[in-house]
Amino acid sequence: MKTIDVAIVDDEQNVLNSLKRLFRKENYELFFTTNCEKVMHLLSEGEIKVVMSDQKMIGITGIEFLKNIKKQYPRVVNILFTGYADMNMAEDAINEGEVYRFVNKPWNDDDLKSIVRQAVDKYDLEEKNRCLAENINKQNKKLTFLNKKLKNMYDAQKVFTSTLAHELRTPLASIRMALDIVMKQAFGEINNKQEDLLNKAKTNVNRLNRLINDILDLSKMEFEGAQLNFEKYELNSIIQGVIDNQRPLAVEHGLFLRTRLDQKISKVRLDSDRITQVLDNLINNAIKFTVQGGITVISELDALKKQVIICVEDTGMGIPEKDIPKLFKKFQQLAQPQTQSAKGTGLGLVICKEIIHQHGGEIWIKAGIEHGSSFCFSLPIK
Ligand SMILES: Nc1ncnc2c1ncn2[C@@H]1O[C@H](COP(=O)(O)OP(=O)(O)OP(=O)(O)O)[C@@H](O)[C@H]1O
Ligand SMILES: [Mg+2]
Repeated sequence: MKTIDVAIVDDEQNVLNSLKRLFRKENYELFFTTNCEKVMHLLSEGEIKVVMSDQKMIGITGIEFLKNIKKQYPRVVNILFTGYADMNMAEDAINEGEVYRFVNKPWNDDDLKSIVRQAVDKYDLEEKNRCLAENINKQNKKLTFLNKKLKNMYDAQKVFTSTLAHELRTPLASIRMALDIVMKQAFGEINNKQEDLLNKAKTNVNRLNRLINDILDLSKMEFEGAQLNFEKYELNSIIQGVIDNQRPLAVEHGLFLRTRLDQKISKVRLDSDRITQVLDNLINNAIKFTVQGGITVISELDALKKQVIICVEDTGMGIPEKDIPKLFKKFQQLAQPQTQSAKGTGLGLVICKEIIHQHGGEIWIKAGIEHGSSFCFSLPIK
């Protein structure tokens, strides 16, 4: 497609000749003609940025000609050559947007060159804007389409997860009930070997139940976002409550469970159930992966960064440096706990991360610990 920067129409050949001389040094693609039809023909085949026409022509006035162009090719920038007598008409045409500028005859060379240059720049700029707007429009359409697709996928997965959880939970509950009845010897005595097998079955049913609950919990958090009940709580009291609950398990494993709480911490805005869930999982992990020694829960006020930091330290097997990037990812289990019944699902830390992020905090594992491991999280304070 041929592009002409400026087409100049005048029925006087000597005017065209002097204009040719004037624009000789300009680096535009120029086209000179005495014939309006030729310009219309070129426009139908290619692109013309600026049309400059004389008002006085045979068979048609310049304004009529330029109006025609504007009607069919609205992007073209029009310039009108006119004598003083036609001034009012030219002004009307400018006001109606059909003509960009008019030039009085006889013209001033520098003024004319500058007007033509401005007209070409105007065309280029509008073209650029049009392309940009077109691109934005295209991107918008694409985004709307993707958004719709995502929403459909999101809805489908939401239904899938909750249906699946329901379909799994119901038979699982009936298996658990049946196991309980048999284990209570309601239908006759069971021997040690049978009891052993039934215990194993129950452990696995419980594990499966935990897995379903965790998956549901996580997908609910991922799909529905923060559904937290924020209130101001004494953080140290929440920690103490979790410790009291977990102590029997620690004692059972022969481990100490102690605290080092910063008394400067006062009330913190949090969802107490969810923070309890995080502490439960971190302390539970620490107990699961520690054979000797014990667990210390530390709270600390970081007034400078306007946050509190809670760490759960243990004297257990620790986590090799190379495995740290695998933590906080779904279903990542790096080590086997000492007891099979303590085997988890590998979702605990992912859920913790989600909860802490929804509180506006961070969760991490302290690097460079020689013995055991230390999991920490922060909670912002106002
Ligand atoms: N205190 C710890 N010491 C050593 N390894 C740990 C500790 N905490 C977590 N890990 C490692 O990180 C893995 C992931 O922990 P996470 O809490 O996500 O899952 P889980 O405890 O295995 O199962 P779940 O919590 O879902 O029941 C664990 O399986 C373990 O390999
Ligand atoms: Mg865990």
